[in-house]
Amino acid sequence: MSMAGPESTAAAADQNRTTEGGSPPILSVQGLKVSYPVYAAKPVRAVHELDLQIAPGEIVGLVGESGSGKTSLARAIMGLLVRPGRIDGGAVTFDGRDMRAASEDELRAIRGRDIAMVIPNPRSELDPLVTVGRQIANVARAHLKIGRAEADEMAMDMLKAVQIPDPARRFRAYPHELSGGMAQRVVMAIALVCSPKFLISDDATSGLDVTVQAQVLELLRRLVRDQGAAMMFITRDIGITAHFCDRVAVIYAGEIVEEAPTLSFFENPMHPYSVMLLAAFAHNPRLREKWHKPLASNAPSHVATGCEYAPRCVHAEAECSRVRPQLRELAPGHRVRCHFPVLRDDGETGGVPSDAGEAGQ
Ligand SMILES: Nc1ncnc2c1ncn2[C@@H]1O[C@H](COP(=O)(O)OP(=O)(O)OP(=O)(O)O)[C@@H](O)[C@H]1O
Ligand SMILES: [Mg+2]
Repeated sequence: MSMAGPESTAAAADQNRTTEGGSPPILSVQGLKVSYPVYAAKPVRAVHELDLQIAPGEIVGLVGESGSGKTSLARAIMGLLVRPGRIDGGAVTFDGRDMRAASEDELRAIRGRDIAMVIPNPRSELDPLVTVGRQIANVARAHLKIGRAEADEMAMDMLKAVQIPDPARRFRAYPHELSGGMAQRVVMAIALVCSPKFLISDDATSGLDVTVQAQVLELLRRLVRDQGAAMMFITRDIGITAHFCDRVAVIYAGEIVEEAPTLSFFENPMHPYSVMLLAAFAHNPRLREKWHKPLASNAPSHVATGCEYAPRCVHAEAECSRVRPQLRELAPGHRVRCHFPVLRDDGETGGVPSDAGEAGQ
């Protein structure tokens, strides 16, 4: 199935764009729209006119609550939307290639070799009947057209790189013989064995114990950095992004509402939704009370006009339900989709947390 659409020609023009650092983006998403048709009802709008650019070597955190469209965005980039999901418009350019114009065969070749994705539930990703070493080697052989001995060697190197204890023994182990943390490392080894240029981690570490999660994240960052790859790191946990990502993008109801270099974001979060996320993360009841406006339903529901967040926003004014705000750049690389962005006043909300558990207390 081809993903070509009328807007895909926009991808060609996109090659001339550059990122904040001046280099052409490895991934560029422009005006992307994704929806899921629902029988006899309005389609579910999952991603709406979303723009995102990621430079080579950059780790970008994509943060948003459940149902905000993170997985839909990731899968649309990979050409792997789950039925009945569909791309309604926009462009996805990866390494100068128009992904919506690529054939299914081309996409299959790109996935695993140039773009890889790690998801939670590592066991569901692994074949229970094949040893883990062989599974890693098979991916390398399929994409890199190399012989068995060379692929086995690469697989062994990857098992060492992801710091699996006793890698020679684990090479011959079956997935059920591994702990959850080890299985997640094997999935990372599979994702990284072909040295992809771009890695998507979709909530991949949230199921792990906190200490294992910290180790796995550190490894992931080191491997991505060593290989000079870029990464989109999807999470619901805003705290993790503080030390892990170069840039943070906050997604709400399928739209990026704030996007900034990590330091700028944590020092001066400007969208009321970001501030609310940070207040919730900080386990600070006073802040939460100040920023959170409870609704009958917590799920984002799309508004007819104006700002998507207005019904939940403690700062909303009449204009907010009338006019859809555009993303505006209010500090270098710091863009906010809000008519009345939060300006730092009392320092209550700013600062990179020194520790996820203690932040804001
Ligand atoms: N297969 C599907 N069929 C119908 N609607 C879907 C499907 N997958 C996702 N959606 C809808 O699309 C929207 C975005 O979902 P998505 O899975 O992208 O969110 P998410 O941010 O990844 O959430 P989570 O943090 O829970 O993984 C939601 O409203 C969801 O209900
Ligand atoms: Mg998801």
